[in-house]
Amino acid sequence: MTDMLDIESRGGRAGTTLLDVDDIVMHYSTKEGAVMAVDNVTFQVANGESLGLVGESGCGKTSVALTLLGLLPDNAEIISGDIQLDGESIVGLTEEQMRRRRWRDIAMVFQGAMNSWNPVYKVGDQIREALRLHWPETLTYSQETERIGQLFELVGLNPRMAERYPHEFSGGMRQRAVIAMALSCNPKLIIADEPTTALDVIVQDQILKELKNIQAELGMSIIYISHDIAVIAEVTDRMGVMYAGKLVELGDTIEVFHRPRHPYSFLLLSSTPSITGPRRVLAPLEGEPPNLLNPPSGCRFHPRCPFATEQCTREEPVLTDIGGGHAVACWNWEEVPEIGGLQK
Ligand SMILES: Nc1ncnc2c1ncn2[C@@H]1O[C@H](COP(=O)(O)OP(=O)(O)O)[C@@H](O)[C@H]1O
Ligand SMILES: [Mg+2]
Repeated sequence: MTDMLDIESRGGRAGTTLLDVDDIVMHYSTKEGAVMAVDNVTFQVANGESLGLVGESGCGKTSVALTLLGLLPDNAEIISGDIQLDGESIVGLTEEQMRRRRWRDIAMVFQGAMNSWNPVYKVGDQIREALRLHWPETLTYSQETERIGQLFELVGLNPRMAERYPHEFSGGMRQRAVIAMALSCNPKLIIADEPTTALDVIVQDQILKELKNIQAELGMSIIYISHDIAVIAEVTDRMGVMYAGKLVELGDTIEVFHRPRHPYSFLLLSSTPSITGPRRVLAPLEGEPPNLLNPPSGCRFHPRCPFATEQCTREEPVLTDIGGGHAVACWNWEEVPEIGGLQK
Protein backbone atom coordinates (compact mmCIF):
# COMPACT_ATOMS: atom_id res chain seq x y z
CA MET A 1 0.00 0.00 0.00
CA THR A 2 1.26 3.44 -0.79
CA ASP A 3 1.65 5.94 1.99
CA MET A 4 -1.48 8.05 2.08
CA LEU A 5 0.70 11.11 2.19
CA ASP A 6 2.37 10.30 -1.12
CA ILE A 7 2.13 13.00 -3.71
CA GLU A 8 1.33 11.46 -7.07
CA SER A 9 -1.29 11.49 -9.78
CA ARG A 10 -4.48 9.50 -9.43
CA GLY A 11 -4.74 9.23 -13.21
CA GLY A 12 -4.58 5.94 -15.09
CA ARG A 13 -1.84 4.22 -17.07
CA ALA A 14 0.38 6.56 -19.10
CA GLY A 15 -0.78 6.96 -22.68
CA THR A 16 -4.40 5.91 -22.14
CA THR A 17 -7.06 8.59 -22.64
CA LEU A 18 -7.88 10.66 -19.56
CA LEU A 19 -9.86 13.55 -20.99
CA ASP A 20 -12.05 13.36 -24.06
CA VAL A 21 -13.48 16.67 -25.25
CA ASP A 22 -15.98 15.95 -28.00
CA ASP A 23 -17.32 18.71 -30.22
CA ILE A 24 -18.00 21.22 -27.46
CA VAL A 25 -19.93 24.37 -28.32
CA MET A 26 -20.19 27.02 -25.60
CA HIS A 27 -21.78 30.45 -25.96
CA TYR A 28 -22.05 33.48 -23.71
CA SER A 29 -25.30 35.36 -24.04
CA THR A 30 -24.97 39.11 -23.99
CA LYS A 31 -27.28 42.05 -24.74
CA GLU A 32 -25.77 42.19 -28.23
CA GLY A 33 -26.31 38.47 -28.88
CA ALA A 34 -24.42 35.19 -28.50
CA VAL A 35 -20.62 35.26 -28.20
CA MET A 36 -19.42 32.05 -29.82
CA ALA A 37 -16.43 31.52 -27.57
CA VAL A 38 -15.95 27.74 -27.96
CA ASP A 39 -17.08 26.33 -31.28
CA ASN A 40 -16.90 22.60 -32.11
CA VAL A 41 -13.75 22.03 -30.09
CA THR A 42 -12.55 18.41 -29.99
CA PHE A 43 -9.36 17.06 -28.43
CA GLN A 44 -8.08 14.36 -26.09
CA VAL A 45 -5.51 14.36 -23.33
CA ALA A 46 -3.73 11.14 -22.41
CA ASN A 47 -2.70 10.19 -18.90
CA GLY A 48 0.69 11.71 -18.18
CA GLU A 49 0.57 14.01 -21.20
CA SER A 50 1.00 17.76 -21.34
CA LEU A 51 -1.12 19.49 -23.93
CA GLY A 52 -0.70 23.16 -24.79
CA LEU A 53 -3.39 25.53 -25.98
CA VAL A 54 -2.10 28.64 -27.64
CA GLY A 55 -3.64 31.60 -29.43
CA GLU A 56 -3.95 35.35 -29.14
CA SER A 57 -5.99 36.94 -26.41
CA GLY A 58 -9.73 36.56 -27.03
CA CYS A 59 -9.48 33.27 -28.94
CA GLY A 60 -11.38 31.25 -26.32
CA LYS A 61 -8.61 29.52 -24.35
CA THR A 62 -9.86 30.52 -20.90
CA SER A 63 -13.40 29.68 -22.01
CA VAL A 64 -12.25 26.12 -22.76
CA ALA A 65 -10.60 25.91 -19.32
CA LEU A 66 -13.70 27.17 -17.52
CA THR A 67 -15.88 24.74 -19.48
CA LEU A 68 -13.67 21.83 -18.41
CA LEU A 69 -13.71 22.97 -14.80
CA GLY A 70 -17.45 23.61 -14.69
CA LEU A 71 -16.70 27.16 -13.60
CA LEU A 72 -18.65 29.05 -16.23
CA PRO A 73 -20.32 32.37 -15.45
CA ASP A 74 -24.13 32.56 -15.39
CA ASN A 75 -24.44 33.89 -18.92
CA ALA A 76 -22.56 30.91 -20.37
CA GLU A 77 -24.26 27.88 -21.85
CA ILE A 78 -22.89 24.61 -23.18
CA ILE A 79 -24.92 24.24 -26.36
CA SER A 80 -23.72 20.80 -27.40
CA GLY A 81 -20.93 18.28 -27.11
CA ASP A 82 -19.57 16.12 -24.32
CA ILE A 83 -16.58 16.03 -22.01
CA GLN A 84 -15.51 12.75 -20.47
CA LEU A 85 -12.98 12.40 -17.72
CA ASP A 86 -11.86 8.82 -17.20
CA GLY A 87 -14.78 7.63 -19.30
CA GLU A 88 -17.40 9.54 -17.31
CA SER A 89 -19.28 12.53 -18.66
CA ILE A 90 -18.75 15.73 -16.68
CA VAL A 91 -21.10 17.89 -18.74
CA GLY A 92 -24.35 18.45 -16.94
CA LEU A 93 -23.06 17.54 -13.48
CA THR A 94 -24.66 19.60 -10.74
CA GLU A 95 -22.67 22.39 -9.09
CA GLU A 96 -22.21 20.15 -6.05
CA GLN A 97 -21.00 17.12 -8.06
CA MET A 98 -18.58 19.32 -9.95
CA ARG A 99 -17.31 20.95 -6.78
CA ARG A 100 -16.44 17.52 -5.45
CA ARG A 101 -14.40 16.78 -8.55
CA ARG A 102 -12.54 20.06 -8.60
CA TRP A 103 -9.16 19.81 -6.82
CA ARG A 104 -9.50 16.02 -6.49
CA ASP A 105 -9.80 15.20 -10.19
CA ILE A 106 -9.12 18.46 -11.99
CA ALA A 107 -7.13 21.18 -10.28
CA MET A 108 -6.30 24.60 -11.60
CA VAL A 109 -3.52 27.12 -11.64
CA PHE A 110 -4.65 30.51 -12.85
CA GLN A 111 -2.94 33.72 -13.77
CA GLY A 112 -2.68 36.40 -11.09
CA ALA A 113 -2.06 34.10 -8.15
CA MET A 114 -2.64 36.91 -5.65
CA ASN A 115 -6.36 36.58 -6.25
CA SER A 116 -6.34 32.94 -5.23
CA TRP A 117 -5.24 33.67 -1.67
CA ASN A 118 -7.24 35.08 1.18
CA PRO A 119 -4.94 37.73 2.74
CA VAL A 120 -6.02 37.06 6.33
CA TYR A 121 -5.07 33.37 6.53
CA LYS A 122 -1.66 31.73 6.49
CA VAL A 123 -0.89 30.08 3.16
CA GLY A 124 -0.42 26.65 4.76
CA ASP A 125 -3.80 26.88 6.46
CA GLN A 126 -5.47 27.62 3.15
CA ILE A 127 -3.99 24.43 1.70
CA ARG A 128 -5.06 22.63 4.89
CA GLU A 129 -8.60 23.80 4.19
CA ALA A 130 -8.46 22.34 0.66
CA LEU A 131 -7.21 19.03 2.09
CA ARG A 132 -10.01 18.92 4.63
CA LEU A 133 -12.61 19.55 1.94
CA HIS A 134 -11.26 17.30 -0.78
CA TRP A 135 -8.82 14.70 0.52
CA PRO A 136 -10.53 11.30 0.46
CA GLU A 137 -9.46 10.25 3.96
CA THR A 138 -9.30 12.11 7.23
CA LEU A 139 -5.79 13.21 8.08
CA THR A 140 -4.62 14.18 11.53
CA TYR A 141 -3.42 17.74 12.02
CA SER A 142 0.20 16.61 11.97
CA GLN A 143 -0.34 14.51 8.83
CA GLU A 144 -1.83 17.57 7.16
CA THR A 145 1.15 19.64 8.22
CA GLU A 146 3.53 16.96 6.95
CA ARG A 147 1.78 16.84 3.59
CA ILE A 148 1.80 20.63 3.25
CA GLY A 149 5.54 20.57 4.01
CA GLN A 150 6.07 17.91 1.30
CA LEU A 151 4.07 19.94 -1.18
CA PHE A 152 6.10 23.06 -0.41
CA GLU A 153 9.36 21.18 -0.87
CA LEU A 154 8.13 19.76 -4.15
CA VAL A 155 7.49 23.23 -5.58
CA GLY A 156 10.74 24.68 -4.24
CA LEU A 157 9.43 26.52 -1.21
CA ASN A 158 10.79 26.28 2.32
CA PRO A 159 8.16 24.36 4.33
CA ARG A 160 8.40 27.04 7.03
CA MET A 161 6.75 29.46 4.57
CA ALA A 162 3.48 27.61 5.25
CA GLU A 163 3.29 29.65 8.44
CA ARG A 164 3.41 32.92 6.52
CA TYR A 165 0.69 35.12 5.04
CA PRO A 166 0.23 35.67 1.28
CA HIS A 167 1.63 39.23 1.36
CA GLU A 168 4.93 37.86 2.71
CA PHE A 169 5.42 35.89 -0.53
CA SER A 170 6.96 37.29 -3.72
CA GLY A 171 4.96 36.88 -6.94
CA GLY A 172 6.97 33.82 -7.94
CA MET A 173 6.67 32.24 -4.49
CA ARG A 174 2.95 32.85 -4.48
CA GLN A 175 2.60 31.12 -7.84
CA ARG A 176 4.65 28.19 -6.51
CA ALA A 177 2.25 27.99 -3.57
CA VAL A 178 -0.68 27.93 -6.01
CA ILE A 179 0.96 24.96 -7.71
CA ALA A 180 1.37 23.27 -4.30
CA MET A 181 -2.32 23.88 -3.70
CA ALA A 182 -3.21 22.41 -7.10
CA LEU A 183 -1.15 19.29 -6.32
CA SER A 184 -2.53 18.93 -2.81
CA CYS A 185 -5.17 16.29 -3.56
CA ASN A 186 -3.24 14.27 -6.19
CA PRO A 187 -5.32 15.43 -9.16
CA LYS A 188 -5.48 13.51 -12.43
CA LEU A 189 -5.39 16.68 -14.48
CA ILE A 190 -4.09 20.19 -13.87
CA ILE A 191 -5.27 23.08 -15.99
CA ALA A 192 -2.75 25.91 -15.92
CA ASP A 193 -4.13 29.06 -17.58
CA GLU A 194 -1.35 31.60 -18.23
CA PRO A 195 0.34 30.30 -15.03
CA THR A 196 3.40 32.49 -15.30
CA THR A 197 2.27 35.39 -17.47
CA ALA A 198 2.37 37.94 -14.62
CA LEU A 199 5.94 37.00 -13.62
CA ASP A 200 9.27 38.23 -14.93
CA VAL A 201 10.93 36.09 -17.56
CA ILE A 202 13.54 34.43 -15.33
CA VAL A 203 11.08 33.48 -12.62
CA GLN A 204 8.65 32.34 -15.31
CA ASP A 205 11.28 30.07 -16.79
CA GLN A 206 12.20 28.55 -13.42
CA ILE A 207 8.60 27.84 -12.55
CA LEU A 208 7.81 26.29 -15.94
CA LYS A 209 10.83 24.00 -15.70
CA GLU A 210 9.82 23.00 -12.22
CA LEU A 211 6.24 22.35 -13.21
CA LYS A 212 7.48 20.20 -16.06
CA ASN A 213 9.73 18.18 -13.75
CA ILE A 214 6.96 17.73 -11.21
CA GLN A 215 4.62 16.54 -13.91
CA ALA A 216 7.17 14.03 -15.19
CA GLU A 217 7.75 12.80 -11.65
CA LEU A 218 4.13 12.54 -10.53
CA GLY A 219 2.65 11.50 -13.86
CA MET A 220 -0.44 13.68 -13.96
CA SER A 221 -1.75 15.28 -17.14
CA ILE A 222 -1.51 19.02 -17.68
CA ILE A 223 -3.24 21.43 -20.01
CA TYR A 224 -1.08 24.52 -20.34
CA ILE A 225 -2.75 27.58 -21.73
CA SER A 226 -0.72 30.52 -22.93
CA HIS A 227 -0.77 33.29 -25.52
CA ASP A 228 3.02 32.81 -25.63
CA ILE A 229 3.98 30.11 -28.10
CA ALA A 230 7.53 29.96 -26.69
CA VAL A 231 6.13 28.85 -23.33
CA ILE A 232 4.07 26.14 -25.01
CA ALA A 233 7.16 24.95 -26.91
CA GLU A 234 9.07 24.57 -23.68
CA VAL A 235 6.64 22.51 -21.69
CA THR A 236 4.24 20.52 -23.85
CA ASP A 237 4.18 17.19 -25.70
CA ARG A 238 1.31 18.14 -27.98
CA MET A 239 -0.28 21.45 -28.75
CA GLY A 240 -3.50 22.90 -30.05
CA VAL A 241 -3.77 26.30 -31.69
CA MET A 242 -6.98 28.21 -31.07
CA TYR A 243 -8.32 30.96 -33.26
CA ALA A 244 -11.64 32.73 -32.79
CA GLY A 245 -13.20 30.01 -30.63
CA LYS A 246 -11.98 27.16 -32.83
CA LEU A 247 -9.19 24.66 -32.63
CA VAL A 248 -7.43 25.21 -35.96
CA GLU A 249 -4.42 22.94 -35.54
CA LEU A 250 -3.51 20.07 -33.25
CA GLY A 251 -0.39 17.94 -33.23
CA ASP A 252 2.89 16.94 -31.70
CA THR A 253 4.54 20.12 -30.39
CA ILE A 254 7.84 19.64 -32.20
CA GLU A 255 6.03 18.73 -35.43
CA VAL A 256 3.78 21.82 -35.24
CA PHE A 257 6.80 24.00 -34.57
CA HIS A 258 8.73 22.63 -37.52
CA ARG A 259 5.87 22.30 -39.92
CA PRO A 260 2.90 24.41 -38.86
CA ARG A 261 0.19 23.63 -41.40
CA HIS A 262 -2.29 26.33 -40.47
CA PRO A 263 -1.43 29.83 -41.71
CA TYR A 264 -2.37 31.24 -38.30
CA SER A 265 0.09 28.92 -36.51
CA PHE A 266 2.70 29.75 -39.13
CA LEU A 267 2.29 33.49 -38.58
CA LEU A 268 2.21 33.15 -34.78
CA LEU A 269 5.46 31.20 -34.92
CA SER A 270 7.22 33.29 -37.49
CA SER A 271 6.42 36.50 -35.65
CA THR A 272 7.97 35.21 -32.40
CA PRO A 273 11.66 36.23 -32.47
CA SER A 274 12.65 34.00 -29.52
CA ILE A 275 11.74 30.98 -31.68
CA THR A 276 12.86 32.00 -35.13
CA GLY A 277 16.05 33.70 -33.97
CA PRO A 278 16.80 37.42 -34.12
CA ARG A 279 18.29 37.47 -37.61
CA ARG A 280 15.42 35.92 -39.49
CA VAL A 281 13.09 37.88 -41.70
CA LEU A 282 9.85 37.67 -39.81
CA ALA A 283 6.43 37.49 -41.35
CA PRO A 284 4.18 39.86 -39.45
CA LEU A 285 0.82 38.82 -38.04
CA GLU A 286 -1.35 41.82 -38.76
CA GLY A 287 -4.75 42.77 -37.38
CA GLU A 288 -6.48 41.10 -34.47
CA PRO A 289 -8.89 38.26 -33.75
CA PRO A 290 -12.52 38.96 -34.70
CA ASN A 291 -15.37 39.86 -32.42
CA LEU A 292 -17.04 36.55 -31.63
CA LEU A 293 -20.51 38.09 -31.66
CA ASN A 294 -20.28 38.13 -35.41
CA PRO A 295 -17.26 36.18 -36.66
CA PRO A 296 -16.27 36.19 -40.36
CA SER A 297 -17.97 33.73 -42.70
CA GLY A 298 -16.16 30.65 -43.98
CA CYS A 299 -12.80 30.30 -42.28
CA ARG A 300 -12.72 32.78 -39.40
CA PHE A 301 -9.08 33.54 -40.15
CA HIS A 302 -9.59 34.44 -43.81
CA PRO A 303 -9.54 38.26 -43.42
CA ARG A 304 -5.99 38.06 -41.97
CA CYS A 305 -4.73 35.15 -44.03
CA PRO A 306 -2.13 35.61 -46.80
CA PHE A 307 -3.12 32.21 -48.24
CA ALA A 308 -6.86 32.82 -48.38
CA THR A 309 -8.79 32.04 -51.54
CA GLU A 310 -12.38 32.68 -52.50
CA GLN A 311 -13.40 29.31 -51.06
CA CYS A 312 -12.13 30.37 -47.61
CA THR A 313 -14.61 33.27 -47.48
CA ARG A 314 -17.53 30.90 -48.06
CA GLU A 315 -16.79 27.44 -46.71
CA GLU A 316 -15.67 26.62 -43.24
CA PRO A 317 -12.79 24.12 -43.08
CA VAL A 318 -13.07 21.48 -40.34
CA LEU A 319 -10.20 20.08 -38.33
CA THR A 320 -8.95 17.18 -40.46
CA ASP A 321 -6.25 14.61 -39.80
CA ILE A 322 -3.38 15.00 -42.26
CA GLY A 323 -1.37 12.06 -40.88
CA GLY A 324 0.92 11.40 -37.95
CA GLY A 325 -1.62 12.64 -35.43
CA HIS A 326 -1.44 16.11 -36.97
CA ALA A 327 -4.75 17.80 -37.72
CA VAL A 328 -5.49 21.14 -39.35
CA ALA A 329 -8.55 23.16 -40.31
CA CYS A 330 -7.45 24.90 -43.51
CA TRP A 331 -8.28 24.52 -47.20
CA ASN A 332 -4.77 25.47 -48.25
CA TRP A 333 -2.54 23.85 -45.64
CA GLU A 334 -0.27 22.43 -48.32
CA GLU A 335 0.74 25.98 -49.30
CA VAL A 336 2.13 26.83 -45.87
CA PRO A 337 5.96 26.89 -45.85
CA GLU A 338 8.05 25.06 -43.27
CA ILE A 339 9.71 26.93 -40.43
CA GLY A 340 12.04 24.30 -38.96
CA GLY A 341 14.84 24.90 -36.53
CA LEU A 342 13.13 24.55 -33.17
CA GLN A 343 15.69 23.32 -30.66
CA LYS A 344 14.08 21.41 -27.88
N1 LIG B 1 -18.51 36.29 -19.35
C1 LIG B 1 -18.42 36.61 -20.64
N2 LIG B 1 -19.49 37.14 -21.30
C2 LIG B 1 -19.40 37.44 -22.62
N3 LIG B 1 -18.32 37.24 -23.37
C3 LIG B 1 -17.24 36.73 -22.77
C4 LIG B 1 -17.23 36.39 -21.39
N4 LIG B 1 -15.99 35.89 -21.08
C5 LIG B 1 -15.28 35.91 -22.23
N5 LIG B 1 -16.02 36.41 -23.24
C6 LIG B 1 -15.60 36.53 -24.65
O1 LIG B 1 -15.30 35.24 -25.12
C7 LIG B 1 -14.23 35.29 -26.04
C8 LIG B 1 -13.13 34.34 -25.62
O2 LIG B 1 -12.55 34.84 -24.43
P1 LIG B 1 -11.49 34.02 -23.56
O3 LIG B 1 -11.96 32.63 -23.41
O4 LIG B 1 -11.21 34.80 -22.33
O5 LIG B 1 -10.21 34.04 -24.52
P2 LIG B 1 -8.65 33.88 -24.19
O6 LIG B 1 -8.50 33.18 -22.88
O7 LIG B 1 -8.12 33.10 -25.35
O8 LIG B 1 -8.07 35.26 -24.16
C9 LIG B 1 -13.79 36.74 -26.12
O9 LIG B 1 -14.43 37.30 -27.24
C10 LIG B 1 -14.33 37.33 -24.84
O10 LIG B 1 -14.62 38.70 -25.00
MG1 LIG C 1 -7.42 33.78 -21.17
